Amino acid sequence: MSGVGSRGALASIASLQPYQPGRAIAEIRRLYGVDDVVKLASNENPLGPSPQALTALRAALGEAHRYPEGGSPELRRALARRHGVAPGRILLGNGSNEILSLLARIYLAPGRNAVVAQYAFAIYAIASRAAGAEVREVPARAYGHDLAAMAEAITAETAMVFIANPNNPTGTMVGRTEWEDFLGRVPRDVIVVCDEAYAEFVTDPTYPDAAARPDAHPGLVVLRTFSKIHGLAGLRVGWGIASVDVVALFDRIRDAFNVNLLGEVAALAALDDHAHVERTRRVVEQGRRFLERALVALGLPFVESAANFLLVEFGEAATVAEALLRAGVITRPVTGYGLPRHLRITVGLPEENTRLVQTLAALLGRSGPAVGSLAQAALVGDAR
Ligand SMILES: Cc1ncc(COP(=O)(O)O)c(C=O)c1O
Repeated sequence: MSGVGSRGALASIASLQPYQPGRAIAEIRRLYGVDDVVKLASNENPLGPSPQALTALRAALGEAHRYPEGGSPELRRALARRHGVAPGRILLGNGSNEILSLLARIYLAPGRNAVVAQYAFAIYAIASRAAGAEVREVPARAYGHDLAAMAEAITAETAMVFIANPNNPTGTMVGRTEWEDFLGRVPRDVIVVCDEAYAEFVTDPTYPDAAARPDAHPGLVVLRTFSKIHGLAGLRVGWGIASVDVVALFDRIRDAFNVNLLGEVAALAALDDHAHVERTRRVVEQGRRFLERALVALGLPFVESAANFLLVEFGEAATVAEALLRAGVITRPVTGYGLPRHLRITVGLPEENTRLVQTLAALLGRSGPAVGSLAQAALVGDAR
């Protein structure tokens, strides 16, 4: 990339592949002429936003001409109280994505490196390279993070390690023993980002829940988000727990109002909407189990998932994704992750899951009693 205005652009930025978001419903309607489009592409909440957040948002709309209070102190205090830490240990961002980018800007630079896992959430490598750092990618083990190998990969130049637990796009989870062994091996001056965007969907009792033990390592930064279980992806509110030193540096470079007024209002309300969290958990767990059974019936291999999506192997994944789009079902190709044979599919509402399964069965020519009765069962078992 060169030409007018490019002088001074970092080569590490020019060579980046932009992050590819899931395709939008409006775009697919326009391009394919399908009215009834189902989006199972961005790991969003199938039930929609927290109803309590919606009520709070409606009441706050008339304040949209005001700047929010700088640093979102109310949300900070609420999160700190909920997690038993001081407010000075809470990071807030325009989505956890922004927090990841800003942390990379603080700790990475040319001559330093970040350790990430193969198939880990793409933003870790993008943010690290954008800061001019080298990315040391550690081969996955059964699609998941190999934490022992990641600890081995740390060098004197390593400033950050990124772990997604569960990971996107694979849905894999690391357990407590592996996590604790790993933390014991990471030098104290390395920043360990543990991204728990999907924590609330995990049912495995061996889940480490790093947010419950934020002092397990001095450089630990645990990230969470309002985008998933709370259904507020469009409002962009992410948060984290870190040491006061990390938060102090972060607050120096974040934009003054990086969490917007409506985002803060909605997040505060969503935090107390336990009913929505529980319903979402139930719908996702039942939906995931239904999809797993259906995929087995269809003979499609998938990676065991702790989150609200499944990584499914199709072989000709691009062809399948295109055929699904024509039928009005958006899934997520993951070729950019080096997984050209897979699609990532978000768990939807029962009727959306059924539509996916029936469309797949028709595409693969594998309808039949097993798939048909599963689809019925999903509709009958509607958990809403
Ligand atoms: C693992 C992981 N981390 C972080 C994010 C970013 O979430 P947000 O910026 O919406 O908080 C995502 C979004 O899909 C994700 O999958």
